[in-house]
Amino acid sequence: MSNIEQTLSIIKPDAVERNLEEQIKTIFKDNGFVILKEKKLKLEKNEAEQFYKVHETKPFYNDLCEYLSSGTIIVMVLERENAIKYNRDLMGATDPNKAKDGTIRKLFGKSIDKNSVHGSDSPENAKTEIDFFFKN
Ligand code: CDP
Ligand code: MG
Repeated sequence: MSNIEQTLSIIKPDAVERNLEEQIKTIFKDNGFVILKEKKLKLEKNEAEQFYKVHETKPFYNDLCEYLSSGTIIVMVLERENAIKYNRDLMGATDPNKAKDGTIRKLFGKSIDKNSVHGSDSPENAKTEIDFFFKN
């Protein structure tokens, strides 16, 4: 049975800064993703805190929110078969040093915090995250 899903992807400030937008989008398209929606924006710190609320008890939470709100990001709704898991695999491990060859984080990530992309990790979070950016 087919399982077409939508997932939220973010090209993070470190990657936007290095002009990697088109290269990363090409990887998504070459992997069968359709970019249904996209926008370029800069979050306020309190908006980043809301987006990453699941991590509010983590030691890296403040730095993470400072970082996500430090520059321009590109947010996209990506669609394909099994989009959520497929995108997580395509992104690679959170720490680029541990990510497999060919993954986006292995190719472009600089460090565990500046790891170039975000991707939803479950159907529930995909819905919440898509609504966060694209619900009017
Ligand atoms: O992004 P991913 O789902 O792979 O990882 P996460 O565990 O949900 O963490 C969210 C983000 O926090 C990561 O992408 C990193 O940017 C950052 N992080 C960090 O700075 N230091 C850590 N030890 C773990 C995560
Ligand atoms: Mg996560």
